[in-house]
Amino acid sequence: MKKNQLISGEKLSKVLKVSRTAVWKNIKALRELGYNIESIPARGYSLQDTPDFIYPWELEINKLSTSQIYYFQEIDSTNKYASYVSSPALILAEKQTKGQGRLDRNWISLDGGVYFSLVKKPEIDFFLLPALSLVVSVAIAEVIRKIYGCSAKIKWPNDVMIREKKMCGILVEASGEVDELEKVKIGVGINTNQKKESFPEELRSCVTTLSHELGREVDRKQLVSCAVDCIIEKIETFETNPTEIMKQWKNYSLTLGKQIEVKRVKGETIKGKALDVEDNGALILKKENGEIVNLTSGDVSLR
Ligand code: BTN
Repeated sequence: MKKNQLISGEKLSKVLKVSRTAVWKNIKALRELGYNIESIPARGYSLQDTPDFIYPWELEINKLSTSQIYYFQEIDSTNKYASYVSSPALILAEKQTKGQGRLDRNWISLDGGVYFSLVKKPEIDFFLLPALSLVVSVAIAEVIRKIYGCSAKIKWPNDVMIREKKMCGILVEASGEVDELEKVKIGVGINTNQKKESFPEELRSCVTTLSHELGREVDRKQLVSCAVDCIIEKIETFETNPTEIMKQWKNYSLTLGKQIEVKRVKGETIKGKALDVEDNGALILKKENGEIVNLTSGDVSLR
């Protein structure tokens, strides 16, 4: 049904090959899901407005079918749920009560944001696995640039930033054996229509949201659809040509060529100049004493 189009109950029942009572029951069910459908006596129904939820049937994802999408109004963590489903699948939620971030942090997941986990089994060598989160960040940066014209950049390894503020976080977790990867869980959190004031005060200066950057709310259904298709496309390219995707990463990089500080998991901090990124996602850093090191994880701050 198109918005504002008037369609009679009789026509609906004919087209859908169901009784008039079934039509009425379905209209009622749609209203309960948040669809604003007006009934005009003796003339029919008219869709006035669709709800701002990311219902799977509202998405236009070319690379997955609706039956591969799991949707939740609220969940603890889409990445956690992703452990129980097989590849390929997409787990989507309007909000999370225990969103997981990188390096064991929490990911604040309020209404208005985008939270999903894509479950995939990429055909790549195990040693390239750490690069996957960089591959996903290329997809997100590209989609943000294409849809909204924002100059999205990537802070190593995979934070997507606008004006040096974090707009999207990515958490990739793999399961299986070294010689047989079972699947990866690609968790993506995009700061979309949340109000900046809804973030805890200590985060406000280092995060941004798309609506804050654009001065208007964005269509989360379009964003999710484009992001999921683009992530799958970039992974497919990476499977055959990892260097090509890392070239794209370098084009969007906020880190390369800069003096940076990397906080390692154990708390140690390394300072130096970010020289390059390898096909496996490792960052090559020239330390202040001239030594060249190869980093596979850490938290970067620009100096
Ligand atoms: C980061 O710390 O930058 C990564 C954040 C990843 C958050 C996303 S939101 C959807 C998915 N489910 C989770 O629990 N985490 C990821």
